[in-house]
Amino acid sequence: MKVLGFAGSNSAASINKKLVSYVLQQAEAHTTELLDLNDYEVAIYSPERESKDGIPDKIMALAEKIAEADILIISLAEHNSSYSAAFKNVFDWMSRIPNRTVFVDKPLFLMATSPGVRGGQGVLEAAQDRFPRNGAAVVAVFSLPQFHENFTNGILSEPYHSELKTKLFSVLTNH
Ligand SMILES: Cc1cc2nc3c(=O)[nH]c(=O)nc-3n(C[C@H](O)[C@H](O)[C@H](O)COP(=O)(O)O)c2cc1C
Repeated sequence: MKVLGFAGSNSAASINKKLVSYVLQQAEAHTTELLDLNDYEVAIYSPERESKDGIPDKIMALAEKIAEADILIISLAEHNSSYSAAFKNVFDWMSRIPNRTVFVDKPLFLMATSPGVRGGQGVLEAAQDRFPRNGAAVVAVFSLPQFHENFTNGILSEPYHSELKTKLFSVLTNH
């Protein structure tokens, strides 16, 4: 099975990317790939750009990666209780590709982490509401609060380690 992961962040030190990387390591029995959203950065969406130049090649390339995957693992950075602008721009462009949904019916393990106690609950709620309408089958959701306290030296503290392990096992075996 091909497991594709990325963080909804353009930070070079992204804590969400660290979390996705950790989860992909736990899925090492499968073929895994970690993408960097920076490799898919394009000009901010505008109707004029779309009508003049169409969908950017980088957006089409990301759509192809998603289409080739069997399972998606995405961890969203929370900016002002919502998506980071970097993710939202890519998401908006992807939603404009004709005749396909963004997540093309793929099983999606949706995650978020933040340094605060809410662990990205705001962006998780937004994504849980919206992504199914963009073709995502959200099969599990995981929030890690207080990243810097709960993820040290690549080790996830309890009870989060057990929760994540159970959810990942379920995602990998049932889909
Ligand atoms: C513009 C901005 C807004 C933020 N808003 C929130 C927020 O609403 N809730 C939260 O928990 N953290 C917030 N943060 C802190 C982020 O959770 C933190 O920067 C985190 O590292 C982002 O994830 P990343 O490292 O994967 O990019 C915000 C950070 C920035 C720069």
